[in-house]
Amino acid sequence: MAPRRARRPSRTPSAPPRPVGRPPVWPDETRPPRERDITLLWALRSPCSFGCPHCYFGELDLDKAGPPKEVGMLSHIPVRDLDHAALEAFARSLADSPVERVVLAGGEPLDWLPTLSVIKTIKDAGCEVVIATNGVPLTRPGIARRLVELGVDGVSVSLDSADAAVNDRLRPSRSGRVGHREVLAGIRTLLEGRGDGAGPRVGIYTVVIRERPQEITDVARLAAEVGVDYYVPQPISLPPDHKLFAERCHTAADVPAVEEQLLRLQQDPGGLTLPGTAYIRQFLASIATQDSGRIEHCFGGAQLFFVQPDGSVWDCPSDRRIAATPPAARRTIVGTEARTLFADRPVCTDCSHFSRDCVNMGPLVLGMPRLLGREGT
Ligand SMILES: C[S@@+](CC[C@H](N)C(=O)[O-])C[C@H]1O[C@@H](n2cnc3c(N)ncnc32)[C@H](O)[C@@H]1O
Repeated sequence: MAPRRARRPSRTPSAPPRPVGRPPVWPDETRPPRERDITLLWALRSPCSFGCPHCYFGELDLDKAGPPKEVGMLSHIPVRDLDHAALEAFARSLADSPVERVVLAGGEPLDWLPTLSVIKTIKDAGCEVVIATNGVPLTRPGIARRLVELGVDGVSVSLDSADAAVNDRLRPSRSGRVGHREVLAGIRTLLEGRGDGAGPRVGIYTVVIRERPQEITDVARLAAEVGVDYYVPQPISLPPDHKLFAERCHTAADVPAVEEQLLRLQQDPGGLTLPGTAYIRQFLASIATQDSGRIEHCFGGAQLFFVQPDGSVWDCPSDRRIAATPPAARRTIVGTEARTLFADRPVCTDCSHFSRDCVNMGPLVLGMPRLLGREGT
Protein backbone atom coordinates (compact mmCIF):
# COMPACT_ATOMS: atom_id res chain seq x y z
CA MET A 1 0.00 0.00 0.00
CA ALA A 2 -0.03 2.36 0.68
CA PRO A 3 0.36 3.42 0.87
CA ARG A 4 1.70 7.33 1.17
CA ARG A 5 2.81 10.56 1.57
CA ALA A 6 5.05 13.24 0.36
CA ARG A 7 8.11 13.23 2.49
CA ARG A 8 11.60 14.72 2.08
CA PRO A 9 12.26 17.43 -0.50
CA SER A 10 12.35 15.94 -3.95
CA ARG A 11 14.92 16.74 -6.55
CA THR A 12 14.27 17.97 -10.03
CA PRO A 13 15.80 15.65 -12.62
CA SER A 14 18.72 17.38 -14.23
CA ALA A 15 18.27 15.69 -17.61
CA PRO A 16 15.02 16.14 -19.57
CA PRO A 17 12.61 13.37 -18.60
CA ARG A 18 12.71 10.26 -20.75
CA PRO A 19 9.30 9.08 -21.87
CA VAL A 20 8.36 5.96 -19.98
CA GLY A 21 5.36 5.67 -22.21
CA ARG A 22 1.82 4.65 -21.65
CA PRO A 23 1.22 2.74 -18.47
CA PRO A 24 0.45 -0.91 -19.13
CA VAL A 25 -3.08 -1.77 -20.16
CA TRP A 26 -4.88 -2.98 -17.09
CA PRO A 27 -7.91 -5.20 -17.43
CA ASP A 28 -10.50 -2.56 -16.73
CA GLU A 29 -9.10 0.03 -19.15
CA THR A 30 -11.33 -1.49 -21.79
CA ARG A 31 -14.45 -0.84 -19.74
CA PRO A 32 -16.83 1.91 -20.76
CA PRO A 33 -16.44 5.15 -18.77
CA ARG A 34 -18.15 4.97 -15.39
CA GLU A 35 -19.93 7.72 -13.54
CA ARG A 36 -17.81 7.11 -10.48
CA ASP A 37 -14.22 6.36 -11.33
CA ILE A 38 -12.05 8.23 -8.82
CA THR A 39 -9.87 6.51 -6.22
CA LEU A 40 -9.05 8.69 -3.25
CA LEU A 41 -5.99 7.70 -1.26
CA TRP A 42 -6.80 9.38 2.04
CA ALA A 43 -4.08 9.51 4.67
CA LEU A 44 -6.49 10.13 7.50
CA ARG A 45 -4.15 10.45 10.47
CA SER A 46 -0.41 11.01 10.90
CA PRO A 47 0.57 8.93 13.96
CA CYS A 48 1.50 5.25 13.73
CA SER A 49 2.62 2.83 16.43
CA PHE A 50 5.27 1.50 14.05
CA GLY A 51 8.50 3.34 13.32
CA CYS A 52 9.56 2.02 9.91
CA PRO A 53 12.71 3.95 8.97
CA HIS A 54 11.76 3.93 5.27
CA CYS A 55 8.25 5.30 5.86
CA TYR A 56 6.87 7.94 3.55
CA PHE A 57 5.92 9.85 6.70
CA GLY A 58 9.57 10.24 7.69
CA GLU A 59 11.07 9.45 11.08
CA LEU A 60 9.33 10.65 14.20
CA ASP A 61 12.52 11.23 16.19
CA LEU A 62 14.03 13.41 13.46
CA ASP A 63 10.79 15.35 13.06
CA LYS A 64 10.57 15.95 16.82
CA ALA A 65 13.83 17.83 16.53
CA GLY A 66 12.58 19.86 13.57
CA PRO A 67 9.17 19.09 12.08
CA PRO A 68 8.97 19.65 8.33
CA LYS A 69 7.45 23.01 7.51
CA GLU A 70 7.14 22.64 3.75
CA VAL A 71 3.70 22.26 2.24
CA GLY A 72 3.02 18.65 1.24
CA MET A 73 5.66 17.09 3.49
CA LEU A 74 4.34 14.30 5.65
CA SER A 75 5.25 13.68 9.27
CA HIS A 76 4.00 11.37 12.02
CA ILE A 77 3.58 14.48 14.18
CA PRO A 78 -0.13 15.26 13.98
CA VAL A 79 -0.05 19.02 14.56
CA ARG A 80 -1.90 19.81 11.34
CA ASP A 81 -4.27 16.80 11.28
CA LEU A 82 -7.88 17.82 10.69
CA ASP A 83 -10.40 17.23 13.44
CA HIS A 84 -13.13 14.63 13.29
CA ALA A 85 -15.86 17.10 12.30
CA ALA A 86 -13.92 18.32 9.25
CA LEU A 87 -13.24 14.74 8.13
CA GLU A 88 -16.90 13.78 8.52
CA ALA A 89 -18.08 16.82 6.59
CA PHE A 90 -15.98 15.91 3.58
CA ALA A 91 -16.84 12.19 3.88
CA ARG A 92 -20.56 13.06 3.75
CA SER A 93 -20.03 15.04 0.55
CA LEU A 94 -18.71 11.94 -1.25
CA ALA A 95 -22.32 10.79 -1.72
CA ASP A 96 -22.88 13.06 -4.64
CA SER A 97 -19.47 12.80 -6.27
CA PRO A 98 -17.45 10.82 -8.82
CA VAL A 99 -15.44 9.13 -6.05
CA GLU A 100 -15.80 5.37 -6.40
CA ARG A 101 -13.31 4.16 -3.82
CA VAL A 102 -11.55 5.51 -0.75
CA VAL A 103 -8.33 3.87 0.43
CA LEU A 104 -7.81 4.91 4.04
CA ALA A 105 -4.20 4.98 5.15
CA GLY A 106 -1.90 7.19 7.17
CA GLY A 107 -0.14 6.96 9.57
CA GLU A 108 -2.27 4.24 11.05
CA PRO A 109 -5.99 4.74 10.41
CA LEU A 110 -7.20 2.09 12.87
CA ASP A 111 -5.36 3.46 15.92
CA TRP A 112 -7.89 6.31 16.05
CA LEU A 113 -11.42 5.22 17.01
CA PRO A 114 -13.29 7.98 15.08
CA THR A 115 -11.99 6.30 11.91
CA LEU A 116 -14.80 3.75 12.34
CA SER A 117 -17.37 6.52 12.17
CA VAL A 118 -15.68 8.06 9.11
CA ILE A 119 -15.75 4.62 7.44
CA LYS A 120 -19.49 4.39 8.07
CA THR A 121 -20.05 7.81 6.52
CA ILE A 122 -17.99 6.90 3.45
CA LYS A 123 -19.85 3.58 3.04
CA ASP A 124 -23.20 5.38 3.45
CA ALA A 125 -22.02 7.69 0.65
CA GLY A 126 -21.88 4.65 -1.62
CA CYS A 127 -18.09 4.33 -1.95
CA GLU A 128 -15.91 1.26 -1.66
CA VAL A 129 -13.61 1.40 1.37
CA VAL A 130 -10.20 -0.24 1.52
CA ILE A 131 -8.06 0.13 4.64
CA ALA A 132 -4.27 0.04 4.68
CA THR A 133 -3.17 -0.98 8.17
CA ASN A 134 -0.18 -2.28 10.08
CA GLY A 135 -2.54 -5.04 11.26
CA VAL A 136 -2.06 -4.76 15.02
CA PRO A 137 -5.31 -2.83 15.69
CA LEU A 138 -7.21 -5.83 14.28
CA THR A 139 -6.29 -7.73 17.47
CA ARG A 140 -8.14 -5.20 19.66
CA PRO A 141 -11.59 -6.18 20.88
CA GLY A 142 -14.34 -5.35 18.43
CA ILE A 143 -12.28 -3.71 15.67
CA ALA A 144 -12.32 -6.61 13.19
CA ARG A 145 -16.00 -7.32 13.88
CA ARG A 146 -16.87 -3.65 13.30
CA LEU A 147 -15.04 -3.59 9.95
CA VAL A 148 -17.06 -6.62 8.87
CA GLU A 149 -20.33 -5.01 10.05
CA LEU A 150 -19.52 -1.76 8.27
CA GLY A 151 -19.13 -3.62 4.98
CA VAL A 152 -15.51 -2.62 4.44
CA ASP A 153 -14.46 -3.93 1.03
CA GLY A 154 -10.76 -4.58 1.53
CA VAL A 155 -8.15 -4.61 4.28
CA SER A 156 -4.50 -4.49 3.17
CA VAL A 157 -2.06 -5.45 5.91
CA SER A 158 1.64 -4.60 5.71
CA LEU A 159 4.17 -7.35 6.33
CA ASP A 160 7.68 -7.09 4.91
CA SER A 161 9.13 -10.50 5.72
CA ALA A 162 8.00 -14.06 6.35
CA ASP A 163 10.72 -14.19 8.98
CA ALA A 164 9.52 -12.61 12.23
CA ALA A 165 12.91 -11.23 13.27
CA VAL A 166 13.60 -9.72 9.85
CA ASN A 167 10.13 -8.20 9.62
CA ASP A 168 10.44 -6.66 13.06
CA ARG A 169 13.79 -5.16 12.12
CA LEU A 170 12.37 -3.67 8.93
CA ARG A 171 9.07 -2.66 10.55
CA PRO A 172 9.82 -2.04 14.23
CA SER A 173 6.95 -1.10 16.52
CA ARG A 174 7.63 1.93 18.69
CA SER A 175 6.91 0.02 21.90
CA GLY A 176 8.98 -2.99 20.82
CA ARG A 177 6.18 -5.12 22.25
CA VAL A 178 4.28 -5.93 19.05
CA GLY A 179 5.31 -7.09 15.64
CA HIS A 180 5.07 -10.02 13.23
CA ARG A 181 3.16 -12.25 15.66
CA GLU A 182 0.49 -9.63 16.42
CA VAL A 183 0.17 -8.71 12.73
CA LEU A 184 -0.60 -12.34 11.88
CA ALA A 185 -2.95 -12.55 14.88
CA GLY A 186 -4.75 -9.46 13.56
CA ILE A 187 -5.15 -10.99 10.11
CA ARG A 188 -6.47 -14.24 11.60
CA THR A 189 -8.93 -12.34 13.81
CA LEU A 190 -10.31 -10.56 10.77
CA LEU A 191 -10.53 -13.74 8.69
CA GLU A 192 -12.36 -15.50 11.52
CA GLY A 193 -14.60 -12.49 12.08
CA ARG A 194 -15.80 -12.41 8.51
CA GLY A 195 -16.50 -16.15 8.58
CA ASP A 196 -18.19 -17.24 5.39
CA GLY A 197 -19.49 -13.73 4.82
CA ALA A 198 -18.68 -11.77 1.72
CA GLY A 199 -16.12 -9.37 3.04
CA PRO A 200 -13.86 -7.71 3.53
CA ARG A 201 -11.26 -9.17 1.19
CA VAL A 202 -7.99 -9.35 3.08
CA GLY A 203 -4.55 -8.89 1.56
CA ILE A 204 -0.90 -8.55 2.44
CA TYR A 205 1.37 -5.82 1.08
CA THR A 206 5.14 -6.31 1.16
CA VAL A 207 7.74 -3.62 0.57
CA VAL A 208 10.53 -5.36 -1.36
CA ILE A 209 14.10 -4.26 -0.70
CA ARG A 210 17.16 -5.09 -2.74
CA GLU A 211 18.81 -7.36 -0.17
CA ARG A 212 15.70 -9.60 0.18
CA PRO A 213 14.08 -10.48 -3.17
CA GLN A 214 13.15 -13.88 -1.70
CA GLU A 215 10.48 -12.21 0.41
CA ILE A 216 8.36 -11.96 -2.74
CA THR A 217 7.69 -15.69 -2.69
CA ASP A 218 8.32 -16.31 1.03
CA VAL A 219 5.63 -13.84 2.13
CA ALA A 220 3.29 -15.16 -0.58
CA ARG A 221 3.65 -18.66 0.85
CA LEU A 222 2.91 -17.38 4.35
CA ALA A 223 -0.04 -15.33 3.06
CA ALA A 224 -1.51 -18.42 1.39
CA GLU A 225 -1.04 -20.47 4.57
CA VAL A 226 -2.79 -17.84 6.65
CA GLY A 227 -5.60 -17.76 4.09
CA VAL A 228 -5.61 -14.18 2.83
CA ASP A 229 -7.16 -13.34 -0.54
CA TYR A 230 -4.65 -11.08 -2.26
CA TYR A 231 -0.97 -10.26 -2.20
CA VAL A 232 0.94 -7.22 -3.48
CA PRO A 233 4.74 -7.03 -3.40
CA GLN A 234 5.85 -3.48 -4.11
CA PRO A 235 9.30 -1.95 -4.66
CA ILE A 236 10.67 0.29 -1.95
CA SER A 237 10.71 3.91 -3.02
CA LEU A 238 13.10 6.34 -1.37
CA PRO A 239 14.54 9.69 -2.41
CA PRO A 240 18.21 9.44 -3.41
CA ASP A 241 19.32 11.46 -0.40
CA HIS A 242 17.66 9.06 2.05
CA LYS A 243 20.12 7.33 4.37
CA LEU A 244 18.78 3.91 3.32
CA PHE A 245 18.72 4.59 -0.43
CA ALA A 246 21.96 2.76 -1.32
CA GLU A 247 21.29 -0.15 1.00
CA ARG A 248 17.66 -0.84 0.18
CA CYS A 249 16.73 0.60 -3.23
CA HIS A 250 17.11 -1.62 -6.28
CA THR A 251 19.43 -0.95 -9.16
CA ALA A 252 19.35 -2.43 -12.65
CA ALA A 253 21.69 -5.16 -11.39
CA ASP A 254 18.92 -6.43 -9.11
CA VAL A 255 16.46 -7.08 -11.94
CA PRO A 256 17.33 -10.77 -12.56
CA ALA A 257 16.88 -11.79 -8.91
CA VAL A 258 13.61 -9.86 -8.57
CA GLU A 259 12.35 -11.10 -11.93
CA GLU A 260 13.00 -14.70 -10.95
CA GLN A 261 10.96 -14.26 -7.78
CA LEU A 262 8.12 -12.45 -9.55
CA LEU A 263 7.95 -15.15 -12.22
CA ARG A 264 7.86 -17.88 -9.57
CA LEU A 265 5.07 -16.00 -7.83
CA GLN A 266 3.09 -15.71 -11.04
CA GLN A 267 3.56 -19.38 -11.88
CA ASP A 268 2.49 -20.50 -8.43
CA PRO A 269 0.38 -17.85 -6.69
CA GLY A 270 -0.90 -20.45 -4.19
CA GLY A 271 -4.49 -19.35 -4.68
CA LEU A 272 -3.73 -15.67 -3.99
CA THR A 273 -5.03 -12.92 -6.23
CA LEU A 274 -2.11 -10.90 -7.60
CA PRO A 275 -2.21 -7.46 -9.22
CA GLY A 276 -1.62 -8.92 -12.70
CA THR A 277 0.98 -9.29 -15.40
CA ALA A 278 1.08 -5.62 -16.35
CA TYR A 279 1.94 -4.74 -12.76
CA ILE A 280 4.78 -7.24 -12.70
CA ARG A 281 6.17 -5.70 -15.90
CA GLN A 282 5.96 -2.22 -14.45
CA PHE A 283 7.64 -3.34 -11.22
CA LEU A 284 10.61 -4.64 -13.22
CA ALA A 285 10.72 -1.62 -15.53
CA SER A 286 10.79 0.74 -12.56
CA ILE A 287 13.78 -0.91 -10.96
CA ALA A 288 15.58 -1.39 -14.29
CA THR A 289 15.40 2.26 -15.27
CA GLN A 290 16.45 4.67 -12.59
CA ASP A 291 13.88 7.19 -11.45
CA SER A 292 12.63 10.00 -13.67
CA GLY A 293 10.77 9.99 -16.90
CA ARG A 294 7.43 10.85 -18.41
CA ILE A 295 4.17 8.98 -18.15
CA GLU A 296 1.67 9.79 -20.84
CA HIS A 297 -1.98 9.16 -20.00
CA CYS A 298 -1.33 9.00 -16.27
CA PHE A 299 -4.35 8.48 -14.00
CA GLY A 300 -2.90 10.75 -11.26
CA GLY A 301 -5.03 13.89 -11.16
CA ALA A 302 -7.66 12.17 -13.31
CA GLN A 303 -8.74 8.96 -11.55
CA LEU A 304 -6.46 9.19 -8.53
CA PHE A 305 -6.14 11.91 -5.90
CA PHE A 306 -4.30 12.00 -2.59
CA VAL A 307 -5.57 13.67 0.57
CA GLN A 308 -3.12 14.32 3.39
CA PRO A 309 -4.02 14.42 7.11
CA ASP A 310 -4.08 18.24 6.98
CA GLY A 311 -6.76 18.06 4.28
CA SER A 312 -4.54 19.12 1.37
CA VAL A 313 -5.43 17.47 -1.94
CA TRP A 314 -2.85 16.41 -4.52
CA ASP A 315 -3.03 14.77 -7.92
CA CYS A 316 -0.90 11.88 -6.72
CA PRO A 317 1.02 10.83 -3.59
CA SER A 318 4.35 10.93 -5.42
CA ASP A 319 6.62 13.37 -3.59
CA ARG A 320 7.97 14.63 -6.90
CA ARG A 321 4.59 15.42 -8.24
CA ILE A 322 3.60 17.14 -5.01
CA ALA A 323 6.77 19.22 -5.06
CA ALA A 324 6.03 20.24 -8.66
CA THR A 325 2.48 21.38 -7.89
CA PRO A 326 2.28 25.17 -8.35
CA PRO A 327 0.85 27.08 -5.36
CA ALA A 328 -2.14 28.16 -7.44
CA ALA A 329 -3.10 24.50 -7.96
CA ARG A 330 -3.11 23.64 -4.25
CA ARG A 331 -6.45 22.55 -2.86
CA THR A 332 -8.03 21.34 0.36
CA ILE A 333 -11.01 19.26 1.43
CA VAL A 334 -11.77 21.84 4.14
CA GLY A 335 -14.99 23.71 3.48
CA THR A 336 -15.55 22.10 0.10
CA GLU A 337 -17.56 19.24 -1.32
CA ALA A 338 -16.12 16.32 -3.26
CA ARG A 339 -18.37 17.03 -6.24
CA THR A 340 -16.97 20.55 -6.56
CA LEU A 341 -13.40 19.50 -5.84
CA PHE A 342 -13.33 16.93 -8.65
CA ALA A 343 -15.54 18.76 -11.14
CA ASP A 344 -12.87 19.84 -13.61
CA ARG A 345 -10.53 16.90 -13.82
CA PRO A 346 -8.97 15.87 -17.12
CA VAL A 347 -9.44 12.44 -18.71
CA CYS A 348 -5.77 11.74 -17.97
CA THR A 349 -2.61 13.71 -17.28
CA ASP A 350 0.80 13.83 -18.90
CA CYS A 351 3.22 13.53 -16.01
CA SER A 352 6.97 14.15 -16.06
CA HIS A 353 7.62 12.86 -12.57
CA PHE A 354 7.81 9.10 -12.99
CA SER A 355 9.33 7.31 -10.03
CA ARG A 356 9.04 3.99 -8.26
CA ASP A 357 6.11 5.43 -6.38
CA CYS A 358 4.12 5.17 -9.60
CA VAL A 359 4.29 1.38 -9.52
CA ASN A 360 2.58 1.38 -6.16
CA MET A 361 -0.37 3.36 -7.45
CA GLY A 362 -1.50 0.80 -10.06
CA PRO A 363 -2.98 -1.72 -7.59
CA LEU A 364 -4.90 1.05 -5.82
CA VAL A 365 -6.60 2.28 -8.95
CA LEU A 366 -6.70 -0.09 -11.90
CA GLY A 367 -5.81 -3.28 -10.04
CA MET A 368 -8.27 -2.92 -7.16
CA PRO A 369 -11.30 -4.52 -8.85
CA ARG A 370 -9.18 -7.60 -9.35
CA LEU A 371 -7.82 -7.62 -5.79
CA LEU A 372 -11.33 -7.19 -4.42
CA GLY A 373 -12.57 -10.10 -6.51
CA ARG A 374 -14.77 -7.93 -8.69
CA GLU A 375 -13.44 -9.51 -11.85
CA GLY A 376 -11.79 -12.74 -12.95
CA THR A 377 -8.31 -13.38 -11.70
C1 LIG B 1 2.54 4.46 5.01
S1 LIG B 1 1.72 2.93 5.35
C2 LIG B 1 0.27 3.49 6.18
C3 LIG B 1 -0.69 2.42 6.54
C4 LIG B 1 -0.35 1.53 7.73
N1 LIG B 1 0.11 2.23 8.88
C5 LIG B 1 0.63 0.43 7.35
O1 LIG B 1 1.61 0.23 8.08
O2 LIG B 1 0.36 -0.26 6.37
C6 LIG B 1 1.09 2.43 3.76
C7 LIG B 1 1.97 1.50 2.98
O3 LIG B 1 3.08 2.20 2.48
C8 LIG B 1 4.20 1.37 2.55
N2 LIG B 1 5.41 2.20 2.52
C9 LIG B 1 5.83 3.08 3.45
N3 LIG B 1 6.98 3.66 3.08
C10 LIG B 1 7.31 3.14 1.88
C11 LIG B 1 8.37 3.36 0.96
N4 LIG B 1 9.36 4.21 1.22
N5 LIG B 1 8.38 2.66 -0.20
C12 LIG B 1 7.38 1.78 -0.49
N6 LIG B 1 6.34 1.55 0.32
C13 LIG B 1 6.31 2.21 1.50
C14 LIG B 1 3.98 0.63 3.87
O4 LIG B 1 4.77 -0.53 3.98
C15 LIG B 1 2.51 0.31 3.77
O5 LIG B 1 2.30 -0.88 3.05
